[in-house]
Amino acid sequence: MLLITGGAGFIGSNFVVDWLSAREEPVIVVDALTYAGSVQNLASVSPTDALVFVKGDVCDRPLIASLCAKYRPRAILHFAAESHVDRSIHGPGEFVRTNVTGTFELLEAARAYWKGINESERSSFRFLHVSTDEVYGALGDSDAPFTESSAYAPNSPYAATKAASDHLVRAYFHTYGLPTLTTNCSNNFGPYQFPEKLIPILILNALDERPLPVYGDGCNVRDWLFVADHCRGIATVLEHGVVGETYNIGARCEKSNLEIAHTVCSMLDALAPRGRGHYSDLMTFVADRPGHDRRYAIDPSKMESNLNWRPLETFESALRKTIVWYLKNIPWANEVSDREWTDLHYGAESKVVAAQ
Ligand code: NAD
Ligand code: TYD
Repeated sequence: MLLITGGAGFIGSNFVVDWLSAREEPVIVVDALTYAGSVQNLASVSPTDALVFVKGDVCDRPLIASLCAKYRPRAILHFAAESHVDRSIHGPGEFVRTNVTGTFELLEAARAYWKGINESERSSFRFLHVSTDEVYGALGDSDAPFTESSAYAPNSPYAATKAASDHLVRAYFHTYGLPTLTTNCSNNFGPYQFPEKLIPILILNALDERPLPVYGDGCNVRDWLFVADHCRGIATVLEHGVVGETYNIGARCEKSNLEIAHTVCSMLDALAPRGRGHYSDLMTFVADRPGHDRRYAIDPSKMESNLNWRPLETFESALRKTIVWYLKNIPWANEVSDREWTDLHYGAESKVVAAQ
């Protein structure tokens, strides 16, 4: 049995669906179902698969303790987080609560459970913490990509709270011997990504004939990984990772935001022609994100050489699959979207700087 927090969010739900389709081992998902989580994301799980869903908060230590006592998981995989940088700028408090306090409460529940199980269960138990490359801060154009030994230098409230959670996980390994593993991954994309992250917003706004918002000069660089490849990476670290260690997961796929926007537009031109003009005509430069990190890039050599993990998808094949998925799942996107956020973030006194 695996206990998975945040399993109704983007990456967590992809992990659960992929896991249950390939393995017999049951899963219990604990998810607070915030704006970013939906049980619809797990709808493709077959009723015969062993999935238990519990609506609950990672800050609720007694709840986690009771679930551990009842289901006796061999591992806890911690995906739950507040994950959107722009929201962390508007309201960092919830990020501190879920990402820092929530990880602390979960670690405490895990530690108490782990101490009470028998010797052989104790040595095979794992606490796998899912984190981000944003903890390392920003790279300059000619800097080498982040490795596992890069210094932590988080710049956004989101990144700072994830960095704090990584440090807590590290401390629980060193201090208490809790068998932890941490993964730091680059930007994900794929099915079920919440509609306010870059790639889904580009696809959905384009189909709706709305402006495609590009922050600043559009030259910020992110390193992109298809979510299924990330999920395989996490499963690989769970089975073969060395306890106490961290693993950087990425596909050596750096792209500027302008490149992403143009590629999404040209794929949409082919898959769902606009009728008049090209989708790229909708691209619009808007005010930059405060403290916008210029560049992220992951060096995944450790995953490749120590764990023999490599991404299976190319960026183009994965992006095409993603766009096709969104074309078929517009009702899902309409249902989960948070219009209040869109109005607050993009609607306020014309953030538009210049049309492309
Ligand atoms: P997401 O925002 O799509 O999903 C987060 C999930 O956590 C949601 O289902 C939400 O309901 C749940 N949640 C939030 N607060 C909770 C709480 N207090 N208790 C229980 N559940 C709660 O996020 P995601 O993109 O799927 O990211 C998952 C993890 O991967 C996060 O830890 C994130 O930091 C990390 N990560 C994400 C990316 C990315 O590109 N999306 C990249 C690297 C790492
Ligand atoms: P995002 O998907 O929010 O991920 P992160 O901030 O965690 O990297 O943003 C990816 C990049 O896209 C980032 O450089 C900010 C930029 N961006 C835009 O240009 N426009 C947008 O509307 C959004 C949401 C992001």
